[in-house]
Amino acid sequence: MNIGLIGAGHLGKAFLSGLSRNGVRANTITVNARTEDTMNSIKAQYPDINVTSDKKELIAESDMVVIAVKPQNAREVITGINAYDWSDKIIVSFMAGITLADLRELFNDKDNSLNIIRVMPSIGIATCKGVMGFCYEGNVPRVDEVKAIFEKLGYVITLSEDRFDNVMVSAASGLAFVTYLMKEYRDACDLLLNDTEASETITRMIFENALEIVESGAESMESLIDKICTKGGVTEAGIEALEKGDIKDKVSACFDAALKRTNELLNN
Ligand SMILES: NC(=O)c1ccc[n+]([C@@H]2O[C@H](COP(=O)([O-])OP(=O)(O)OC[C@H]3O[C@@H](n4cnc5c(N)ncnc54)[C@H](OP(=O)(O)O)[C@@H]3O)[C@@H](O)[C@H]2O)c1
Repeated sequence: MNIGLIGAGHLGKAFLSGLSRNGVRANTITVNARTEDTMNSIKAQYPDINVTSDKKELIAESDMVVIAVKPQNAREVITGINAYDWSDKIIVSFMAGITLADLRELFNDKDNSLNIIRVMPSIGIATCKGVMGFCYEGNVPRVDEVKAIFEKLGYVITLSEDRFDNVMVSAASGLAFVTYLMKEYRDACDLLLNDTEASETITRMIFENALEIVESGAESMESLIDKICTKGGVTEAGIEALEKGDIKDKVSACFDAALKRTNELLNN
């Protein structure tokens, strides 16, 4: 399948990195970005990838066109390309907060005939360890082929659009949220130890350790906590303080704020 990519920023580049790691034949990929600088840097990194400033050419050469510009640029970009022939193309949108209905409106697709898929990847697709929401309506030809491409880049969850933003917030934005928690942990260690390097190492190692133990199946998250928490002991006192600090409410508030913003993206 020939792939076109419009927008090669953080996520577009992660997509190219994941594809190249998987040996998807590079000469089947064409990239367009706003500036020559970005296109030149893509060409320098991936000499076999085609870059073009002409979106019409990119669309003509591609079976699947991935749109990875900011939601705020969706209107400008899509109204500039919606007059081209999309009848046998598959449109994949990575854009947060732009619904299938919004996309149909922007593409002027009055009879719902265009093939549109929303994919919401975490930036982990760069190393083929992404988590992706995947949603579409009706019959999209070659959808299994499209899905197979994304399955090479990580874990794909196919879901209805009403649950799509939940995956975006918990997985795509979630990678930043979890890293934020990890950073706070490191900074708190540093206050305790007054040793930046040791604090960074301890934080990385214990997060990795917890993940390895849970991933191995040796313990669930709950049983690992129980195992370390001796009744009346030191760890239990710390966990009680975490619970009193309403950490659950804070994580929920973070998800709620992110979800609320998804509805405001197209027109801001
Ligand atoms: N970052 C993430 O982790 C993440 C996760 C899930 C979903 N998303 C979604 O992915 C999309 C891109 O996010 P990002 O973080 O990659 O943004 P970004 O780093 O700002 O990249 C945006 C890209 O769009 C290009 N662009 C802007 N206007 C254009 C135009 N008229 N024609 C062609 N290209 C144009 C820019 O080109 P230049 O480089 O030449 O300026 C840039 O390469 C967003 O809609 C976001 O919601 C991002």
